[in-house]
Amino acid sequence: MAEEIKKGLLGIVVDETTISKVMPEINSLTYRGYQVQELCENCKFEEVAYLIWHGNLPNTIELRKFESEERLNRRITKNLTKIIEHMPKKSHPMDVARTAVSVMALEDKETSDNSADANMRKALRIFAKVPTALAAFFRIRKGKKILQPKKNLTFSENFFHMLFGKVPRSEIVRAFDVSLILYAEHGFNVSTFTARTITSSLSDMHGAITGAIASLKGPLHGGANEKVMEMMSKIKSPKNAKKWINKAIDKKQVVMGFGHRVYKSGDSRVPTMKKYFLKVSKIKKDKKFHKIYDTVEKVMIKRKGIYPNMDFPTGPAYYLMGFDIDFFTPIFVIARITGWTAHIMEQHASNKLIRPLSKYSGEKHRKVVLLNQR
Ligand code: COA
Repeated sequence: MAEEIKKGLLGIVVDETTISKVMPEINSLTYRGYQVQELCENCKFEEVAYLIWHGNLPNTIELRKFESEERLNRRITKNLTKIIEHMPKKSHPMDVARTAVSVMALEDKETSDNSADANMRKALRIFAKVPTALAAFFRIRKGKKILQPKKNLTFSENFFHMLFGKVPRSEIVRAFDVSLILYAEHGFNVSTFTARTITSSLSDMHGAITGAIASLKGPLHGGANEKVMEMMSKIKSPKNAKKWINKAIDKKQVVMGFGHRVYKSGDSRVPTMKKYFLKVSKIKKDKKFHKIYDTVEKVMIKRKGIYPNMDFPTGPAYYLMGFDIDFFTPIFVIARITGWTAHIMEQHASNKLIRPLSKYSGEKHRKVVLLNQR
Protein backbone atom coordinates (compact mmCIF):
# COMPACT_ATOMS: atom_id res chain seq x y z
CA MET A 1 0.00 0.00 0.00
CA ALA A 2 1.35 3.43 -0.94
CA GLU A 3 2.27 5.41 2.14
CA GLU A 4 0.65 8.85 2.10
CA ILE A 5 2.76 11.44 3.83
CA LYS A 6 0.99 14.26 5.68
CA LYS A 7 3.92 16.61 6.23
CA GLY A 8 3.47 18.73 9.32
CA LEU A 9 0.50 16.46 10.20
CA LEU A 10 -1.51 18.79 7.97
CA GLY A 11 -5.22 18.17 8.41
CA ILE A 12 -4.72 15.14 10.67
CA VAL A 13 -7.03 14.75 13.68
CA VAL A 14 -4.90 12.92 16.27
CA ASP A 15 -7.11 12.90 19.38
CA GLU A 16 -10.11 14.41 21.14
CA THR A 17 -10.04 17.31 23.58
CA THR A 18 -12.62 19.01 25.80
CA ILE A 19 -10.44 22.02 26.56
CA SER A 20 -10.83 24.33 23.57
CA LYS A 21 -12.33 24.42 20.12
CA VAL A 22 -10.76 26.37 17.27
CA MET A 23 -13.36 27.11 14.58
CA PRO A 24 -11.64 28.60 11.52
CA GLU A 25 -14.83 28.54 9.43
CA ILE A 26 -16.44 31.16 11.71
CA ASN A 27 -13.21 32.69 13.09
CA SER A 28 -14.14 31.60 16.56
CA LEU A 29 -12.49 30.04 19.60
CA THR A 30 -14.08 28.61 22.75
CA TYR A 31 -12.54 27.47 26.04
CA ARG A 32 -14.67 24.74 27.64
CA GLY A 33 -17.60 26.01 25.54
CA TYR A 34 -17.25 29.73 26.37
CA GLN A 35 -16.44 32.16 23.58
CA VAL A 36 -13.03 33.63 24.27
CA GLN A 37 -14.15 37.19 23.46
CA GLU A 38 -16.85 36.91 26.11
CA LEU A 39 -14.33 35.61 28.64
CA CYS A 40 -12.09 38.60 27.85
CA GLU A 41 -14.88 41.07 28.51
CA ASN A 42 -16.15 39.45 31.71
CA CYS A 43 -13.35 37.59 33.46
CA LYS A 44 -9.92 38.09 34.87
CA PHE A 45 -7.09 35.77 33.88
CA GLU A 46 -7.24 33.77 37.13
CA GLU A 47 -10.89 32.84 36.45
CA VAL A 48 -9.98 31.65 32.96
CA ALA A 49 -7.03 29.64 34.31
CA TYR A 50 -9.43 27.95 36.75
CA LEU A 51 -11.88 27.30 33.91
CA ILE A 52 -9.20 25.72 31.71
CA TRP A 53 -8.10 23.39 34.52
CA HIS A 54 -11.43 22.54 36.13
CA GLY A 55 -13.86 22.74 33.21
CA ASN A 56 -16.16 25.35 34.80
CA LEU A 57 -15.87 28.97 35.87
CA PRO A 58 -15.28 29.29 39.61
CA ASN A 59 -17.86 30.60 42.07
CA THR A 60 -16.72 33.29 44.54
CA ILE A 61 -15.47 30.83 47.14
CA GLU A 62 -13.67 28.65 44.59
CA LEU A 63 -12.01 31.71 43.05
CA ARG A 64 -10.88 33.05 46.41
CA LYS A 65 -9.34 29.68 47.31
CA PHE A 66 -7.67 29.35 43.90
CA GLU A 67 -6.24 32.88 44.03
CA SER A 68 -4.95 32.39 47.52
CA GLU A 69 -3.19 29.13 46.54
CA GLU A 70 -1.61 30.80 43.50
CA ARG A 71 -0.41 33.72 45.63
CA LEU A 72 1.03 31.38 48.30
CA ASN A 73 3.07 29.49 45.68
CA ARG A 74 4.68 32.46 43.93
CA ARG A 75 8.03 32.46 45.71
CA ILE A 76 10.91 30.55 44.16
CA THR A 77 13.65 28.87 46.21
CA LYS A 78 16.96 30.53 47.12
CA ASN A 79 18.60 27.74 45.13
CA LEU A 80 16.73 28.65 41.94
CA THR A 81 17.36 32.35 42.52
CA LYS A 82 21.09 31.65 42.82
CA ILE A 83 21.06 29.56 39.65
CA ILE A 84 19.33 32.41 37.79
CA GLU A 85 21.93 34.84 39.16
CA HIS A 86 24.64 32.67 37.61
CA MET A 87 23.05 32.44 34.20
CA PRO A 88 24.77 34.39 31.41
CA LYS A 89 23.15 37.83 31.22
CA LYS A 90 22.79 37.41 27.45
CA SER A 91 20.66 34.25 27.80
CA HIS A 92 17.33 34.38 26.03
CA PRO A 93 14.59 34.54 28.71
CA MET A 94 12.87 31.59 26.98
CA ASP A 95 15.96 29.49 27.76
CA VAL A 96 15.90 30.87 31.29
CA ALA A 97 12.23 29.84 31.66
CA ARG A 98 12.98 26.36 30.29
CA THR A 99 15.94 25.91 32.63
CA ALA A 100 13.97 27.30 35.60
CA VAL A 101 11.23 24.68 35.05
CA SER A 102 13.92 21.98 34.91
CA VAL A 103 15.28 23.19 38.25
CA MET A 104 11.73 23.29 39.66
CA ALA A 105 11.47 19.60 38.67
CA LEU A 106 14.53 18.85 40.81
CA GLU A 107 13.01 20.70 43.75
CA ASP A 108 9.42 19.45 43.53
CA LYS A 109 8.63 16.47 45.77
CA GLU A 110 5.91 15.29 43.39
CA THR A 111 7.80 15.51 40.08
CA SER A 112 7.42 11.80 39.29
CA ASP A 113 3.87 11.48 40.63
CA ASN A 114 1.57 11.51 37.60
CA SER A 115 -1.67 11.09 39.56
CA ALA A 116 -4.44 13.56 38.71
CA ASP A 117 -4.26 15.24 42.13
CA ALA A 118 -0.47 15.63 42.08
CA ASN A 119 -0.61 16.95 38.51
CA MET A 120 -3.15 19.61 39.49
CA ARG A 121 -0.92 20.70 42.40
CA LYS A 122 2.18 20.78 40.18
CA ALA A 123 0.35 22.76 37.48
CA LEU A 124 -0.50 25.42 40.04
CA ARG A 125 3.06 25.56 41.37
CA ILE A 126 4.60 25.89 37.88
CA PHE A 127 1.98 28.51 36.97
CA ALA A 128 2.68 30.56 40.12
CA LYS A 129 6.50 30.30 40.05
CA VAL A 130 7.50 30.79 36.39
CA PRO A 131 6.62 34.53 36.38
CA THR A 132 8.76 34.98 39.52
CA ALA A 133 11.73 33.20 37.92
CA LEU A 134 11.40 35.31 34.76
CA ALA A 135 11.06 38.54 36.74
CA ALA A 136 14.19 37.66 38.73
CA PHE A 137 16.16 37.28 35.50
CA PHE A 138 14.66 40.52 34.08
CA ARG A 139 16.01 42.45 37.07
CA ILE A 140 19.29 40.59 37.57
CA ARG A 141 20.45 41.22 33.99
CA LYS A 142 19.79 44.93 34.46
CA GLY A 143 21.82 44.91 37.69
CA LYS A 144 18.70 45.59 39.76
CA LYS A 145 17.61 44.08 43.07
CA ILE A 146 15.10 41.22 42.77
CA LEU A 147 11.60 42.10 43.97
CA GLN A 148 9.65 39.45 45.86
CA PRO A 149 6.07 38.72 44.76
CA LYS A 150 3.28 40.48 46.64
CA LYS A 151 0.30 38.52 47.93
CA ASN A 152 -2.09 41.47 47.73
CA LEU A 153 -1.73 41.76 43.95
CA THR A 154 -3.48 39.87 41.13
CA PHE A 155 -1.46 37.62 38.82
CA SER A 156 -1.00 40.38 36.22
CA GLU A 157 -0.44 43.21 38.71
CA ASN A 158 2.17 41.13 40.50
CA PHE A 159 4.04 40.46 37.25
CA PHE A 160 4.32 44.21 36.58
CA HIS A 161 5.37 44.77 40.19
CA MET A 162 8.11 42.10 40.08
CA LEU A 163 9.56 43.49 36.83
CA PHE A 164 9.16 47.23 37.19
CA GLY A 165 8.61 47.82 40.90
CA LYS A 166 5.23 49.40 40.21
CA VAL A 167 1.82 48.52 38.86
CA PRO A 168 0.65 50.63 35.91
CA ARG A 169 -2.82 52.15 35.57
CA SER A 170 -5.71 49.70 35.50
CA GLU A 171 -6.36 49.94 31.72
CA ILE A 172 -2.81 48.74 30.99
CA VAL A 173 -3.12 45.86 33.48
CA ARG A 174 -6.46 44.97 31.92
CA ALA A 175 -4.97 44.90 28.40
CA PHE A 176 -2.19 42.64 29.68
CA ASP A 177 -4.72 40.38 31.45
CA VAL A 178 -6.74 40.12 28.21
CA SER A 179 -3.61 39.14 26.29
CA LEU A 180 -2.99 36.33 28.82
CA ILE A 181 -6.58 35.10 28.40
CA LEU A 182 -6.17 35.09 24.61
CA TYR A 183 -2.81 33.30 24.78
CA ALA A 184 -3.94 30.74 27.37
CA GLU A 185 -5.10 27.92 25.13
CA HIS A 186 -5.42 27.04 21.44
CA GLY A 187 -6.07 23.42 20.55
CA PHE A 188 -3.34 21.12 19.27
CA ASN A 189 -0.77 23.79 18.35
CA VAL A 190 2.86 22.69 18.13
CA SER A 191 3.91 23.38 21.74
CA THR A 192 0.76 21.77 23.16
CA PHE A 193 1.24 18.77 20.91
CA THR A 194 4.88 18.61 22.07
CA ALA A 195 3.67 18.57 25.69
CA ARG A 196 1.15 15.83 24.88
CA THR A 197 3.74 13.78 22.99
CA ILE A 198 6.18 13.92 25.91
CA THR A 199 3.36 13.02 28.30
CA SER A 200 2.31 10.07 26.15
CA SER A 201 5.42 8.13 27.19
CA LEU A 202 4.18 8.66 30.78
CA SER A 203 6.92 11.17 31.43
CA ASP A 204 6.26 13.94 33.95
CA MET A 205 4.64 17.38 33.80
CA HIS A 206 7.84 19.40 34.34
CA GLY A 207 9.52 17.58 31.44
CA ALA A 208 6.53 18.15 29.18
CA ILE A 209 6.53 21.88 30.02
CA THR A 210 10.24 22.28 29.30
CA GLY A 211 9.65 20.66 25.88
CA ALA A 212 6.66 22.93 25.27
CA ILE A 213 8.69 26.05 26.12
CA ALA A 214 11.42 25.00 23.67
CA SER A 215 8.76 24.50 21.01
CA LEU A 216 7.05 27.83 21.67
CA LYS A 217 10.37 29.67 21.31
CA GLY A 218 10.47 29.07 17.55
CA PRO A 219 9.60 32.04 15.28
CA LEU A 220 6.93 30.05 13.44
CA HIS A 221 5.11 29.71 16.78
CA GLY A 222 5.29 31.98 19.86
CA GLY A 223 8.61 33.53 18.90
CA ALA A 224 6.73 35.47 16.22
CA ASN A 225 5.61 38.19 18.68
CA GLU A 226 9.24 39.20 19.19
CA LYS A 227 9.93 39.10 15.44
CA VAL A 228 6.90 41.36 14.84
CA MET A 229 8.44 44.02 17.05
CA GLU A 230 11.85 43.62 15.38
CA MET A 231 10.09 44.13 12.04
CA MET A 232 8.24 47.23 13.29
CA SER A 233 11.53 48.64 14.59
CA LYS A 234 13.12 48.06 11.16
CA ILE A 235 10.19 49.79 9.43
CA LYS A 236 10.98 52.77 11.70
CA SER A 237 8.21 55.18 10.66
CA PRO A 238 4.63 54.99 9.31
CA LYS A 239 5.65 56.75 6.10
CA ASN A 240 8.14 53.97 5.38
CA ALA A 241 5.68 51.15 6.12
CA LYS A 242 4.05 50.74 2.70
CA LYS A 243 7.34 50.68 0.81
CA TRP A 244 8.92 48.30 3.34
CA ILE A 245 6.12 45.74 3.32
CA ASN A 246 5.75 45.83 -0.48
CA LYS A 247 9.47 45.15 -0.81
CA ALA A 248 9.25 42.28 1.69
CA ILE A 249 6.40 40.75 -0.31
CA ASP A 250 8.29 41.22 -3.59
CA LYS A 251 11.26 39.42 -2.06
CA LYS A 252 8.93 36.61 -0.94
CA GLN A 253 9.86 37.15 2.72
CA VAL A 254 7.85 35.52 5.49
CA VAL A 255 6.15 38.40 7.27
CA MET A 256 6.03 37.65 10.96
CA GLY A 257 2.70 37.90 12.75
CA PHE A 258 0.78 36.88 9.62
CA GLY A 259 -0.72 33.58 8.56
CA HIS A 260 -1.84 30.58 10.52
CA ARG A 261 -1.98 26.83 10.01
CA VAL A 262 -5.65 26.65 11.00
CA TYR A 263 -7.15 30.10 10.41
CA LYS A 264 -7.05 31.10 6.76
CA SER A 265 -9.39 34.10 6.84
CA GLY A 266 -8.46 35.74 10.14
CA ASP A 267 -7.41 34.76 13.68
CA SER A 268 -10.34 34.74 16.14
CA ARG A 269 -8.21 36.44 18.81
CA VAL A 270 -7.01 39.39 16.75
CA PRO A 271 -10.05 41.74 16.89
CA THR A 272 -10.08 41.63 20.71
CA MET A 273 -6.31 42.00 21.03
CA LYS A 274 -6.24 44.80 18.46
CA LYS A 275 -8.90 46.66 20.46
CA TYR A 276 -6.76 46.44 23.60
CA PHE A 277 -3.57 47.31 21.69
CA LEU A 278 -5.30 50.48 20.49
CA LYS A 279 -6.34 51.32 24.07
CA VAL A 280 -2.71 50.98 25.20
CA SER A 281 -1.57 52.94 22.17
CA LYS A 282 -3.94 55.80 23.09
CA ILE A 283 -2.85 55.86 26.74
CA LYS A 284 0.82 55.88 25.71
CA LYS A 285 0.08 58.58 23.08
CA ASP A 286 1.51 56.31 20.38
CA LYS A 287 0.62 56.96 16.79
CA LYS A 288 3.62 55.32 15.17
CA PHE A 289 3.00 51.63 15.87
CA HIS A 290 -0.72 51.97 15.39
CA LYS A 291 -0.16 53.43 11.90
CA ILE A 292 2.52 50.88 10.96
CA TYR A 293 0.12 48.14 12.10
CA ASP A 294 -2.70 49.40 9.89
CA THR A 295 -0.53 49.84 6.80
CA VAL A 296 1.18 46.44 7.03
CA GLU A 297 -2.17 44.72 7.68
CA LYS A 298 -3.83 46.45 4.73
CA VAL A 299 -1.07 45.62 2.25
CA MET A 300 -0.75 41.97 3.42
CA ILE A 301 -4.48 41.36 3.04
CA LYS A 302 -4.66 43.17 -0.32
CA ARG A 303 -1.58 41.63 -1.93
CA LYS A 304 -1.34 38.21 -0.26
CA GLY A 305 -4.79 37.59 1.21
CA ILE A 306 -3.02 36.70 4.48
CA TYR A 307 -4.39 38.00 7.79
CA PRO A 308 -2.61 38.95 11.01
CA ASN A 309 -2.39 36.40 13.82
CA MET A 310 -2.44 37.06 17.57
CA ASP A 311 1.30 37.88 17.64
CA PHE A 312 0.82 40.94 15.43
CA PRO A 313 -1.12 43.08 17.97
CA THR A 314 0.65 41.66 21.07
CA GLY A 315 4.10 42.65 19.76
CA PRO A 316 3.54 46.44 19.78
CA ALA A 317 1.15 46.22 22.77
CA TYR A 318 3.83 44.60 24.97
CA TYR A 319 6.43 47.05 23.68
CA LEU A 320 4.28 50.02 24.67
CA MET A 321 3.63 48.41 28.07
CA GLY A 322 7.41 48.63 28.63
CA PHE A 323 8.52 45.00 28.29
CA ASP A 324 11.87 44.14 26.70
CA ILE A 325 11.31 42.54 23.29
CA ASP A 326 12.83 39.20 24.33
CA PHE A 327 10.24 39.01 27.13
CA PHE A 328 7.27 38.86 24.73
CA THR A 329 7.41 35.09 24.16
CA PRO A 330 8.04 34.39 27.87
CA ILE A 331 4.79 36.29 28.56
CA PHE A 332 3.12 33.86 26.14
CA VAL A 333 4.64 31.05 28.28
CA ILE A 334 3.15 32.32 31.53
CA ALA A 335 -0.28 32.37 29.88
CA ARG A 336 0.01 29.07 27.97
CA ILE A 337 1.15 27.10 31.04
CA THR A 338 -2.57 26.87 31.81
CA GLY A 339 -3.40 25.25 28.45
CA TRP A 340 -0.31 23.03 28.37
CA THR A 341 -0.89 21.63 31.86
CA ALA A 342 -4.60 21.04 31.13
CA HIS A 343 -3.60 19.05 28.02
CA ILE A 344 -0.99 17.10 29.99
CA MET A 345 -3.70 16.12 32.50
CA GLU A 346 -6.11 15.24 29.68
CA GLN A 347 -3.45 13.11 27.98
CA HIS A 348 -2.75 11.23 31.24
CA ALA A 349 -6.46 10.63 31.75
CA SER A 350 -6.76 8.82 28.40
CA ASN A 351 -3.28 7.99 27.23
CA LYS A 352 -2.02 6.28 24.13
CA LEU A 353 1.66 6.45 23.24
CA ILE A 354 2.10 8.91 20.34
CA ARG A 355 4.22 7.13 17.78
CA PRO A 356 3.63 7.96 14.10
CA LEU A 357 5.26 6.13 11.20
CA SER A 358 7.74 7.39 8.65
CA LYS A 359 8.44 6.45 5.06
CA TYR A 360 12.07 5.44 4.62
CA SER A 361 13.78 7.22 1.73
CA GLY A 362 17.45 6.62 2.57
CA GLU A 363 20.05 4.23 1.10
CA LYS A 364 18.82 0.87 -0.16
CA HIS A 365 19.80 -2.23 1.78
CA ARG A 366 23.58 -2.66 1.54
CA LYS A 367 26.22 -5.02 2.89
CA VAL A 368 28.80 -3.96 5.47
CA VAL A 369 32.22 -3.78 3.86
CA LEU A 370 34.95 -2.78 6.27
CA LEU A 371 36.88 0.35 5.29
CA ASN A 372 40.27 -1.35 4.84
CA GLN A 373 38.68 -3.88 2.47
CA ARG A 374 37.24 -1.27 0.06
N1 COA B 1 4.29 35.86 5.09
C1 COA B 1 4.38 35.63 3.77
N2 COA B 1 3.84 34.56 3.17
C2 COA B 1 3.18 33.68 3.97
C3 COA B 1 3.05 33.87 5.35
C4 COA B 1 3.65 35.02 5.92
N3 COA B 1 3.57 35.25 7.21
N4 COA B 1 2.35 32.85 5.87
C5 COA B 1 2.04 32.04 4.85
N5 COA B 1 2.54 32.54 3.70
C6 COA B 1 2.43 31.96 2.38
C7 COA B 1 3.48 30.88 2.20
O1 COA B 1 4.67 31.41 1.66
C8 COA B 1 2.81 29.92 1.26
O2 COA B 1 2.89 30.44 -0.04
P1 COA B 1 3.15 29.47 -1.29
O3 COA B 1 1.93 28.57 -1.32
O4 COA B 1 3.25 30.40 -2.42
O5 COA B 1 4.41 28.72 -0.98
C9 COA B 1 1.34 30.00 1.68
O6 COA B 1 1.18 31.27 2.29
C10 COA B 1 0.96 28.89 2.66
O7 COA B 1 1.79 29.00 3.79
P2 COA B 1 2.37 27.80 4.61
O8 COA B 1 3.66 28.18 5.22
O9 COA B 1 2.33 26.55 3.80
O10 COA B 1 1.28 27.66 5.73
P3 COA B 1 1.45 26.87 7.06
O11 COA B 1 0.09 26.55 7.51
O12 COA B 1 2.41 25.76 6.95
O13 COA B 1 2.17 27.95 7.99
C11 COA B 1 2.66 29.59 9.52
C12 COA B 1 1.59 28.69 8.93
C13 COA B 1 2.12 30.21 10.78
C14 COA B 1 3.91 28.78 9.88
C15 COA B 1 3.03 30.68 8.49
O14 COA B 1 1.88 31.42 8.17
C16 COA B 1 4.13 31.60 8.97
O15 COA B 1 5.32 31.26 8.84
N6 COA B 1 3.78 32.78 9.56
C17 COA B 1 4.76 33.69 10.09
C18 COA B 1 5.15 33.28 11.50
C19 COA B 1 4.06 33.59 12.51
O16 COA B 1 3.52 34.66 12.56
N7 COA B 1 3.82 32.60 13.37
C20 COA B 1 2.82 32.69 14.40
C21 COA B 1 1.68 31.77 14.12
S1 COA B 1 0.37 32.01 15.29
